[in-house]
Amino acid sequence: MRVLVSGGAGYIGSHTVLALVAAGHDVVVVDDFSNSKPTVIGRLESLSGAHVPVHSFDLTDADKTERLFAHEQIDAVIHFAGFKAVGESVTRPLAYYRNNLESTFSLVDAMNRHGVTRFVFSSSATVYGEKAPVPYREDYENLSSSSPYGQTKVMVERVLSDVAHISEGWKVALLRYFNPVGAHPSGRIGEDPQGVPNNLMPFIAQVAVGRRERLTVFGDDYPTADGTCERDYLHVEDLAAGHVAALEHLDDMAEPARAFNLGTGTGTSVLELLRAFERAVGRELPYEVGPRRAGDLPAFWADPTRANTELGWHATRTIDDMCADTWRWQSANPHGFPDA
Ligand code: UFG
Repeated sequence: MRVLVSGGAGYIGSHTVLALVAAGHDVVVVDDFSNSKPTVIGRLESLSGAHVPVHSFDLTDADKTERLFAHEQIDAVIHFAGFKAVGESVTRPLAYYRNNLESTFSLVDAMNRHGVTRFVFSSSATVYGEKAPVPYREDYENLSSSSPYGQTKVMVERVLSDVAHISEGWKVALLRYFNPVGAHPSGRIGEDPQGVPNNLMPFIAQVAVGRRERLTVFGDDYPTADGTCERDYLHVEDLAAGHVAALEHLDDMAEPARAFNLGTGTGTSVLELLRAFERAVGRELPYEVGPRRAGDLPAFWADPTRANTELGWHATRTIDDMCADTWRWQSANPHGFPDA
């Protein structure tokens, strides 16, 4: 298939581009590089051996989106592009709703005009909110999220599901990611957050490489085995493979829209992840315990049974693989991707 990957220069998008090319698909990237560097593309081309055509614009521009579909032959869309910082979304809610919803509307409109009916959406475990029983299962109905960012995921899932149900031939996979970490085993691409990392793994990696003094563990008085929060970390290479599996499953899907958890099914605590990273680096890393971060849930992980059985997808990489690959990327690229 010829797949339009929105946000294909970003962390998960770039790894998925490589997985798509390796599986024999053609890729077209659309990215406005607002949270990624154009130098990613050259690395994708050298790693994949394929030309990666890039359209550089903001998908909330419906006219440009329409022109892209008029110009390129597209069989399917994987939609990663979006604002994704939970904390920032609380202070800039309208920017998050506008960007994450408008970009989806532009894509859906252009797809409808050009007869493209296959859609894979980058959703998040955050749609399960605070009350869903753990492990999270896709048949949980009361989706809601405490942050505007998470709420855009709930809303876009609903928009796509409603569109798919009334549009002839539409098939939508809603992929609910747990906590993606790790990097391509080449060490050539990986997560490159701008500014202070919000997420645990890139923060630990920057401590290890000397860019940050120490990790602050946000609370050690949670009702978990060691008192720190537990999350379902999955390797970005497994996650990328999950997108290929979902894409290739769309035509066989009985329902117009279906959600799939992409996670390992096990929780790992903040301190366990730190210890694993220390094993990868071969030395201890400095940390202190600070107060809880507002909005953090004590522990959650996926029930990945649906993705296992229906997509034939399983997360296979271990926490040690995730840390080793993150460290290879971070140590070879201490300041992330070069500007040019
Ligand atoms: N943590 C620290 N110190 C840090 C950063 C994080 O102790 O410097 C802790 C957090 O308190 C949490 C755990 O590490 O307990 C994981 O935090 P992340 O920010 O890495 O991940 P979250 O689970 O909070 O967030 C992720 C995604 C979001 C998504 C959310 C809910 O990044 O996009 O899961 O599904 F919304």
